[in-house]
Amino acid sequence: MDRVRVFDTTLRDGEQSPGATMTSTEKLEVAKALARLGVDVIEAGFPAASPDDLAAVREIALRVRSASICALARASRNDIDKAWEAIREAAAPRIHTFLATSDLHLAHKLRMSRDEVRGRVREMVSYARSLCADVEFSAEDAGRSDPEFLCEIAAIAAAAGAGTINIPDTVGYTTPAEFGALIQQVRACLPSDVVVSVHCHDDLGLATANTLVGVLNGARQVEVTINGIGERAGNTSLEEVVMALHTRPAVFGVTTGIEHGLLVPTSRLVSTTTGFPVPPNKAIVGANAFAHESGIHQDGMLKHHLTYEIMRPETVGATQTRLVLGKHSGRAALRSRLSELGHDLDDAALDRAFVAFKSVAEKKKQVTDADLEALVGFFPDEDGWTLDGLQVACGTIGMPTATVRLRDRNGTTVVRAATGTGPVDAAFRAVDEIVGDAKELLEYSVRSVTEGIDALGEVSVRIGEGRRIFHGHAADTDIVVASAKAYLAAVNRMLATRDRFKEAS
Ligand code: KIV
Ligand code: ZN
Repeated sequence: MDRVRVFDTTLRDGEQSPGATMTSTEKLEVAKALARLGVDVIEAGFPAASPDDLAAVREIALRVRSASICALARASRNDIDKAWEAIREAAAPRIHTFLATSDLHLAHKLRMSRDEVRGRVREMVSYARSLCADVEFSAEDAGRSDPEFLCEIAAIAAAAGAGTINIPDTVGYTTPAEFGALIQQVRACLPSDVVVSVHCHDDLGLATANTLVGVLNGARQVEVTINGIGERAGNTSLEEVVMALHTRPAVFGVTTGIEHGLLVPTSRLVSTTTGFPVPPNKAIVGANAFAHESGIHQDGMLKHHLTYEIMRPETVGATQTRLVLGKHSGRAALRSRLSELGHDLDDAALDRAFVAFKSVAEKKKQVTDADLEALVGFFPDEDGWTLDGLQVACGTIGMPTATVRLRDRNGTTVVRAATGTGPVDAAFRAVDEIVGDAKELLEYSVRSVTEGIDALGEVSVRIGEGRRIFHGHAADTDIVVASAKAYLAAVNRMLATRDRFKEAS
């Protein structure tokens, strides 16, 4: 069977989702998980965007050696130079350069003629190729481009040295029939050794369908993100495409190098790192993806799982009920189980993980894989404020009140109390009293990680400051504690970003 390359852009297009910004450490953690998952190419970022982005891509290029590391660049010398600076020491570097081809973008965004686009593509792909042996060219807004012009540009880019030509449906506008025909046309105008790639956005909910129809029409690279995160309605989700190809070999006749059993752990890692919860009904990785509620379905499942299941949960790593560790388990057991779940922590991170694990193990007899997955993304940032104590009084008598004790990075503790509309609001206000100015709370959600009264509550918070959005996540058996920790995580991100801006100016 033909092999389809998986090009993951969680760290670039995915990170462009409002509020999905990750720190360099988080990006490296996600990149390592993507490499373990078996993706062929990791698009690690857009180095020309800022010195921070360049440094994060460079770190990934140096530390993640088992996948090709790609950097995005507009079709300009400056961007291409920055991309090359970031990835030149990667084991397998790739420069990904792009220019729009739709008349709409040419007229209103680029203010370039078709002839100028022809010249720029030729020149910039050749320049990128003079630096790096592996170059990808994308025709931005290909989905709304004149197919004849698109083919002409694709052929120019290939002749200038691009080994991969990517056809993005940048605004998620095309239908599967249109997109399939477009890919067939592009495939036919390129030499057979040039790989055609597809990159779809989900504005009409058609990204996965368009990507699959692209494969049926000759695309041999799919550009995807974990959980489908990305600009606006998101990108094509990796797990959906990979499992469709795997589950229906007779239809697609292709394979990928993905380690299917790591799909759910990787999805969880990206969700906790970006603060984007996975909807319960999300295909493959949602909490209900393998749940059978109705009596008729349960009866069928008991008789034979194939009655209502097209893939086994364990195939995608969705078995979350395994009992793993208890309060007597040590650091080595924790490290080994976390590593089996795909989290290779350094000593400092393991120390923080162990403290979090012990505190949960004191309260819950059994700490499951799902609990560990929930805890692993939330070890407090040592450089920011940490929650040192919390007490709340709430109910129907008197105003809900919270007393919060926070510790700063030097170990100094501060205590404040505040009232609010409920215990969570009171706790957030008490935090605000300590760290200063109030922030806008944009989103607050809480969910239970496992079943039972002692379940961990996982809280996600988004706060806004100006046009910037910061997320925080935390898990605890006490949801007010989890809420305060999640809020602090978001506040710490906000303060760290302010510090970076201060340093830069
Ligand atoms: O959607 C798009 O067109 C892109 C390109 C930069 C590939 O993300
Ligand atoms: Zn995109």
